[in-house]
Amino acid sequence: MSVNKQLVNKADHYNDPQHNYPQYWEGRDYEHAAEVLALKRLLHGKRFKHALDVGGGYGRLCVVLDAYADRVTLADPSRKQLEFARDFLKDHPQIECRLLQADNLKLQSGSIDLLTMIRVLHHLPAPIAEFFEIARVLSDDGCVVIEVANYTHALNRLKHLFKIKSLPITPVDIRSAENRRADEMPFVNHNPVTVIEQLSHAGLRVERTLSVSNLRSAALKKLMPLRIMLALEKPMQQMFAASYFGPSIFFLAKKCWAGSKRVGLVDPMSRTVFPRI
Ligand SMILES: C[S@@+](CC[C@H](N)C(=O)[O-])C[C@H]1O[C@@H](n2cnc3c(N)ncnc32)[C@H](O)[C@@H]1O
Repeated sequence: MSVNKQLVNKADHYNDPQHNYPQYWEGRDYEHAAEVLALKRLLHGKRFKHALDVGGGYGRLCVVLDAYADRVTLADPSRKQLEFARDFLKDHPQIECRLLQADNLKLQSGSIDLLTMIRVLHHLPAPIAEFFEIARVLSDDGCVVIEVANYTHALNRLKHLFKIKSLPITPVDIRSAENRRADEMPFVNHNPVTVIEQLSHAGLRVERTLSVSNLRSAALKKLMPLRIMLALEKPMQQMFAASYFGPSIFFLAKKCWAGSKRVGLVDPMSRTVFPRI
């Protein structure tokens, strides 16, 4: 594994010595398996030349991509995650790791035919520049898999229904009160409909949707064996996709030229969230 030594400035939280992201995954076998299931489903039957996992962390999902692509690159702005990746990917020396963040991927335009960005959007309240950058590096027939931390999941829908409140279209800050500071990393949940619109402004059209981790619940995980949870999860991913049931939504998107013509309508560097159109 080679580590590119460029300097970037984001993801301080993931560089914090107190924070051990691989440890976060202990006890989350169901969520991990549900995400792998979704990824394999979206990539089934496809073969890629160069896959890029943006915000790939320590490489948890890069090893899945390795089965679908001739070349895999992990891009992450956290030096600490890349250090973890050095160990986690020691049996995958062909996977290249680069210190890069999503709004400046420093790759040739059209050079990537599979780009994944999983569990990163919850750190990007207004992912406009990032979506434009993704569209730039993507080849004309390339695929993007983006995971959305879904505010509009079934439980929140019920809560809003009881309070007779409509669901927000803008991202919702889910940080604790003491972490709501400008120097703390953003942590938001999105409305998937807004994300679809943001992607389309950048020239990316969502072609498939999966609802993922539909049974995420600490109580259920204690009661139900993993294999049963996954047997239920499998049909639910497709059945509940249209209603955005689960806490995590996976989109498969492709370039749409009609959308890219609308690029001039927005300022790609704007940090504001688009209103619904
Ligand atoms: C929750 S982890 C997810 C890691 C990996 N995708 C996974 O699912 O295991 C979020 C990752 O996003 C990275 N990250 C944060 N801000 C980013 C940005 N602006 N561009 C790219 N990656 C970013 C962090 O360094 C961290 O490794």
